[in-house]
Amino acid sequence: MRSVITGTGIGIPKNLVPNEALTPLMDTTDEWIRTRSGIEQRYYADPGQGSAELGSIAAESALQSAGLPKEDIDAVIFATMTPDYLFPGNGPVLQERMKLPEIPTFDIRQQCSGFLYGLDLADSLIQSRKYRNILLIGAEVHTPFMPWENGWDTTIGLSTRAITAEEREINTRYRDRLVLFGDGAGAVVVQARDDGQSGFLSSRLFTNGSNIEALYVKGVGFRQRPYVDGKQLEDRDSIPRMEGREVFKQAVSRMPQAVRQVCADRGVTPADLDILLIHQANLRIVEAVAKQLALPPEKVPHNIERYANTTAGTLPILYHECLSDGRIQPGMLVCFTALGSGLHWGAVLYRV
Ligand code: ACO
Repeated sequence: MRSVITGTGIGIPKNLVPNEALTPLMDTTDEWIRTRSGIEQRYYADPGQGSAELGSIAAESALQSAGLPKEDIDAVIFATMTPDYLFPGNGPVLQERMKLPEIPTFDIRQQCSGFLYGLDLADSLIQSRKYRNILLIGAEVHTPFMPWENGWDTTIGLSTRAITAEEREINTRYRDRLVLFGDGAGAVVVQARDDGQSGFLSSRLFTNGSNIEALYVKGVGFRQRPYVDGKQLEDRDSIPRMEGREVFKQAVSRMPQAVRQVCADRGVTPADLDILLIHQANLRIVEAVAKQLALPPEKVPHNIERYANTTAGTLPILYHECLSDGRIQPGMLVCFTALGSGLHWGAVLYRV
């Protein structure tokens, strides 16, 4: 029995925010953002629009493309680091929003590796023969962690009030992160298939918690009493902290290793891959991983220029786009890889 992706869909918010829309908010330039990250634009959710809503849009479309009725879904896996509520997770929110049957929903939170972990979990649940039809979602709404009070409305055209010098100074402190993220969702349907060649071939997942501080949110956590207070917000402990260079270094060494491992598991080499889908955190990371694996650019698609980093959303969005425009064809050997906060990383090898 094989676990096969039978449907895909995406949920992208309507507000397109080009790099130029960020320059009034902080000391940055379109050129810096493009050359350091490859990002040209991103989309921001509407006020009140959460990751469960974007996820449900992607999920509806994935179910439609799979031709799977809602009542036939056996379980949902929702990967996000930006759920609508601290608890419960997005699973029940999605279940109610989509009017799904009272099926189990798993909330997982491996940040940029969330979709990869979700794929592995979906495959494991199918291989255990407990479930046959799984809906897997990776969705994020990052905009709420951005520190700007007026910036949200300015970037999506709801306010024309000028940003004050003080606001600009505060935003500039976090500019390395603020320019990198966008909102968006992708979803896939994973089904058990008893015949055919396509499906999961191998996965390798890893965690190393020795340097959590390289990328984490310090505040709003249950080790603190109370778990959120005015002081934490004043200190802006709700904004992710990131050692960009360290994460970059880890990404360009760990992802190629994981890709080589899943290939070796199946007796192939990276050169045998038709397509490598790399988590979209930075175009320079994508290019460095491709270079280490000696893969030509046509085998390593990217869309970070249009969406920025949508964390758990990047891989399903990219897979959906490549399938839709024909870059991914039936029979192709595809590898997914990601690294993110945790650190969590890994790779999945898959035959389309
Ligand atoms: N605009 C203008 N200048 C900036 C900006 C900005 N938005 N951000 C930082 N700078 C400045 C810095 O202050 C620094 O100035 P200085 O030299 O005067 O001190 C200069 O640019 C260079 O800064 P670096 O941090 O060295 O820039 P780098 O080339 O490393 O790029 C970046 C920074 C884009 C963050 C990169 O390190 C990166 O992409 N890291 C990995 C991020 C990542 O993969 N995250 C994981 C996924 S997220 C998740 O899991 C949730």
